[in-house]
Amino acid sequence: MPRTNQHVLVIGAGIIGLSIGWELARAGCRVDLFDRDEAGQAASHVAAGMLAPDAELEFEETTLHDLNTESRRRWPDFAADLEADTGVDVGLRTEGTFIVADDRDAAEALRRRYQFQREQDLEVEWVSGEEARAKEPFLAPRLSAAVRSPHDHQVNNRAVVKALRQGVAQHGGRLHEHTPIEAVAPDADRPAVVTATGPRVTGDVVIVAAGAWSNSIDGLDGVLPIRPVKGEAVALDVGPSFDLRHVVRGPDAYVVPKNDGRVVVGATAEEKGFDDTVTARGLYENLEGGWEVVPGILDLPVACTCASFRPASRDNAPVLGPVAPGVVAATGHYRHGVLLTPVTAQEIARYVLTGTRSDWIAPFRPDRFDTTSLHRSRN
Ligand code: GLY
Repeated sequence: MPRTNQHVLVIGAGIIGLSIGWELARAGCRVDLFDRDEAGQAASHVAAGMLAPDAELEFEETTLHDLNTESRRRWPDFAADLEADTGVDVGLRTEGTFIVADDRDAAEALRRRYQFQREQDLEVEWVSGEEARAKEPFLAPRLSAAVRSPHDHQVNNRAVVKALRQGVAQHGGRLHEHTPIEAVAPDADRPAVVTATGPRVTGDVVIVAAGAWSNSIDGLDGVLPIRPVKGEAVALDVGPSFDLRHVVRGPDAYVVPKNDGRVVVGATAEEKGFDDTVTARGLYENLEGGWEVVPGILDLPVACTCASFRPASRDNAPVLGPVAPGVVAATGHYRHGVLLTPVTAQEIARYVLTGTRSDWIAPFRPDRFDTTSLHRSRN
């Protein structure tokens, strides 16, 4: 029997924490979510919402690709459930992605990536620049080549956050914003969290979904080797004459049309710790990289610029599962937080409710990192 009468404490109310909270609250658990700031306003807000395991396949990351693909498969039902529960349109779009090359060097790199994608049996298609432009007229003229990735989708991540917030509340979950958690006290029966202002809250299980901040919680030192990777993006307002349909990934930037009148151009990737300054360089690199592949973006008004932190683990894969007595990790999603939301929420909820860990998350267990050598070097 699933243990649906538990009191669950979730640290972090980004898209991952909110989605776990929503799953568990609607299963009947008592859920308290704590966010250091405002819910969903960090990486979940800055993200472009691509659900693109095929386009984002990296060499040597085939196990992660399997998880990414499974989560993409779950997205349509997850979106439909969330929309039915809350009435919020989450803007799932299925036009697909063009990965484009704008010169010969880029075309060679694209060819190599395409061959690797085909070796993994992905249904991607090599097309000429002209063929790509016939399907997506907003692409730059004179592109060298493109790969069409028809099964990659996208979603309006900001609308997902809004829906999840509402869903959590509808099922009795409580959100505590501007409530940083300083420490966790692991305990198999009654784990607790300690808020920065002092109060200690005890529950049946603690979930760490604090994204880039997961490594700054006392009581878990060294167990979650997560670091921030800064990303800057710029959102532009789309007028009636700009009707880009596909997600476009160029060599230096991606351009993602959303269902709410924005197009997101991003993103930089910098190892700078927790520095969230929006810089002229970041703006320049995104706009130049976007302009090279979708020139029409330069005529659009700037809606906003933003920066946040991708939570990256040592192997760039998420950290999912028990991490200390009574404490479960759901963090380290790096470039794939929005994509991995359904599989993370459903599999972590299943673990909390039944104590069984599915084969999907087993390869991403927290103890795959050898922390003993780290502890040794400290002593
Ligand atoms: N997945 C998009 C990014 O990390 O920029």
